[in-house]
Amino acid sequence: MAFRNLSCLSLIALSAIVSSSWAVRLGRRPGVRTLESLDISHEVQHKATGATLPPLDTIYTFDQLIDHENPSLGTFKQRFWFSYQYYEPAGGPIVLFNPGEEDASRLFGCLTNQYMTGYIAEAFHGAVIVLEHRFFGESNPYPDLSVKSFRVHTIQQAIDDHEYFAKNVKLPMPGGDQLGPEKAPWVLVGGSYSGALTSYTMASKPGLFYAGYASSAVVQAIADYWAYYEPIREFLPANCSADIQAVIAFVDQVLTSGNADEIQDLKDRFGLGDVTHDDDFAHARTCPLILFRTGPVVEVYGAWQNASVTTPGGGASDICDALEVDRASGKLAGPEGWGLDHALAAWGAYYNETLPPFTTDFAVPDIRLCFDTYDTQNPAYTSVTVNNWVRSWDWLLCTQFGWWQVGAPASQPSIISRLVDRQWYERQCVYMFPEAFSSPPVVFLDALRVNQQYGGWNTTTERLIFVNGLRDPWREATVAADGATSPGWDMQPHLLGDGYHISDLFLSEGVASPAINATQRQALEYLAAWLSDWQPSA
Ligand SMILES: *[C@@H]1O[C@H](CO)[C@@H](O)[C@H](O)[C@H]1NC(C)=O
Ligand SMILES: *[C@@H]1O[C@H](CO)[C@@H](O)[C@H](O)[C@H]1NC(C)=O
Ligand SMILES: *[C@@H]1O[C@H](CO)[C@@H](O)[C@H](O)[C@H]1NC(C)=O
Ligand SMILES: *[C@@H]1O[C@H](CO)[C@@H](O)[C@H](O)[C@H]1NC(C)=O
Ligand SMILES: *[C@@H]1O[C@H](CO)[C@@H](O)[C@H](O)[C@H]1NC(C)=O
Repeated sequence: MAFRNLSCLSLIALSAIVSSSWAVRLGRRPGVRTLESLDISHEVQHKATGATLPPLDTIYTFDQLIDHENPSLGTFKQRFWFSYQYYEPAGGPIVLFNPGEEDASRLFGCLTNQYMTGYIAEAFHGAVIVLEHRFFGESNPYPDLSVKSFRVHTIQQAIDDHEYFAKNVKLPMPGGDQLGPEKAPWVLVGGSYSGALTSYTMASKPGLFYAGYASSAVVQAIADYWAYYEPIREFLPANCSADIQAVIAFVDQVLTSGNADEIQDLKDRFGLGDVTHDDDFAHARTCPLILFRTGPVVEVYGAWQNASVTTPGGGASDICDALEVDRASGKLAGPEGWGLDHALAAWGAYYNETLPPFTTDFAVPDIRLCFDTYDTQNPAYTSVTVNNWVRSWDWLLCTQFGWWQVGAPASQPSIISRLVDRQWYERQCVYMFPEAFSSPPVVFLDALRVNQQYGGWNTTTERLIFVNGLRDPWREATVAADGATSPGWDMQPHLLGDGYHISDLFLSEGVASPAINATQRQALEYLAAWLSDWQPSA
């Protein structure tokens, strides 16, 4: 991923342990969007006066408390990016965007009107801030990502950061020390995890932020998050989905009740005969998908959440073509697919013949993690160097959220193996954070606590807009989940577009999709009505 001109939102990782780590270290992330085509200049003029403003990529820092429970521990430098190109005095909102689990230095594009963040600012003559989340990028309370340092890496500390920042920052603009939340309406914006953080902050600090906009906000912590794969299963071409399910069912049957020879045969079919542990094979095989080859990365599920309405399904079409177009005859399967035998042979052949050979270079940590998650000495587990979003993110997963992307329960069809289970993920929490866990964490209890504390799906916060995407694999953790009960109301609208993860934050997606366009326009209407009622309290 090159982020040259760009950009906002490489977003938003939100993938679990291993699948994200090997992707990112080779320079790709599930959930990353390529925005190089957007030509965002760093140079800006004030819209009303034409005055030249500092370039958008100017880095500002804020002295943030290391520990909100114990201010005497002092402060660290929290980075932010800022633009007041749209600002007009008296009444303009301050739009605060925390991009969550990211190095935020590439996200200054979010300051512009190509993204909802800057678009909201422009519409209401406000200023925009991109604030880097603690323990991501260069905003680190301590100089490493050790378990000791992570004592202050909690959801609540991140929420408290929002409060301390809003109340104490002197914004780098004329009169910027007179724009606290009692003097100007602050609007908190987030997407994905930071969308949840938007909801949690507003629930935890009523009255601090006047309004909020939460895109694909994963408000509900769910330990066994098998529902991740449900929108994909549902929206893949019917034949492809049916055939993948048939193969997965067979793989699980062999792995759980086959003998050693049968299991070895199965691994060989996919050229994965050297993978020792069956669950690693299950994971590697069943995310065929995010598998590494010496050549192109074949991503189906990883690319899905990042897909655009103009390229439906992202990278899913390659594997689906391989499975559904019969190589001999060129014929296409009907909606029910070809069935197990053909699908298994086609999948094996695709791996064996069409793609370049697997990298089994076990010297590369991420390849090793891909095919051997049992190696506790892997640097992907042991390195504590800062600016490693995977490690910082995995800490939150292992201690608070879970969201393990596991196979579906046995009663449900699944497009990923059921050997990929909670244990597979939580074992890796121990390997990555041995000082914190002597045995695997029990994340489902932590997830319950998160939902109780911050409301999950049931949050009653007002002047908070939720926008979701129908095809988003994270939909079931949002207020648009089938399991969520509230349809929203005029003070907490729940809007739904037909896109993927955080699609609505991109103005370009709203140009391509009328449904996303409608969510963007409605959101502005709600904000307009609310902002017209705002009164300073000091
Ligand atoms: C994300 O999606 C865009 C287009 O929708 C695509 O160009 C890009 O390669 C994708 N990135 C990844 C990592 O899948
Ligand atoms: C079958 O799969 C092909 C290849 O992905 C796809 O183009 C087609 O729409 C699918 N047809 C049905 C009926 O699912
Ligand atoms: C794939 O290659 C392995 C050897 O690496 C072989 O045993 C297997 O039969 C091949 N499968 C297909 C479908 O060609
Ligand atoms: C949310 O509401 C549902 C039903 O109204 C209830 O069953 C559930 O326990 C609530 N969840 C939380 C976290 O309060
Ligand atoms: C919605 O669609 C119209 C027409 O294509 C376009 O001009 C506009 O920029 C889109 N976005 C929003 C937020 O209205």
